[in-house]
Amino acid sequence: MNDTDKEAAARKALRYVKSGMTVGLGTGSTSAFFIRLLGEKNKRKNLGLKCIATSVTSERLATELGLSLVSFEQINQIDVAVDGADVIFGKLLIKGLGGGAIAREKAVDYRAKKFIVIADKSKVKDKFAGTVPVEAIPFCSEAVRRELLFMGAERAEFRMQEGGKFITDNKNHMVDAYFPEIKNAKRLERELNNIPGVLENGIFTRNCKVILGGV
Ligand code: 5RP
Repeated sequence: MNDTDKEAAARKALRYVKSGMTVGLGTGSTSAFFIRLLGEKNKRKNLGLKCIATSVTSERLATELGLSLVSFEQINQIDVAVDGADVIFGKLLIKGLGGGAIAREKAVDYRAKKFIVIADKSKVKDKFAGTVPVEAIPFCSEAVRRELLFMGAERAEFRMQEGGKFITDNKNHMVDAYFPEIKNAKRLERELNNIPGVLENGIFTRNCKVILGGV
């Protein structure tokens, strides 16, 4: 993990942003580099960008930088979304460890005409496996946690923060479920979302362009 490499990846992604575009802003430390660079470029070149943020944190940062924020009500399309990832295996991703923003990220990233993933090369793995965040409504999040174990997760634990369970921007809980091997990513992505009470999970299977820093 290396900030220079994260920033390098973010800088490379800038070239996909053109004047007047609507840009999806990801969440996490790599996305934060991108948002800062985008804010500078937007100001310097007067690009007139519109941005849709995937978390309250990214929205705040973008606002501080003078980027213009929009909601789905105000736009018909997202031209490009740029977001980070925790595990990259080919074009398969696991997201959600660095910010817990998977529901809004998937809502934006899957709808963008182009989805760009930026990361340092430590995120590239030689098998598709790891901790998959699952966002569940608090009413039944303990039942969801048990069902994840039944579905083959080796461990399933509530994400914690100071004072108790981690609460997402959507006011839900996050269960981090460890899968030692994911053979069929699309199927697991679908099956996790079929658990009653689950809002979204961190497996992303949509076609994307991966841009790595430090290679
Ligand atoms: C947040 C995410 C992040 O993009 C992912 O966790 C990578 O974070 P970082 O860039 O800090 O390593 O999916 O929901």
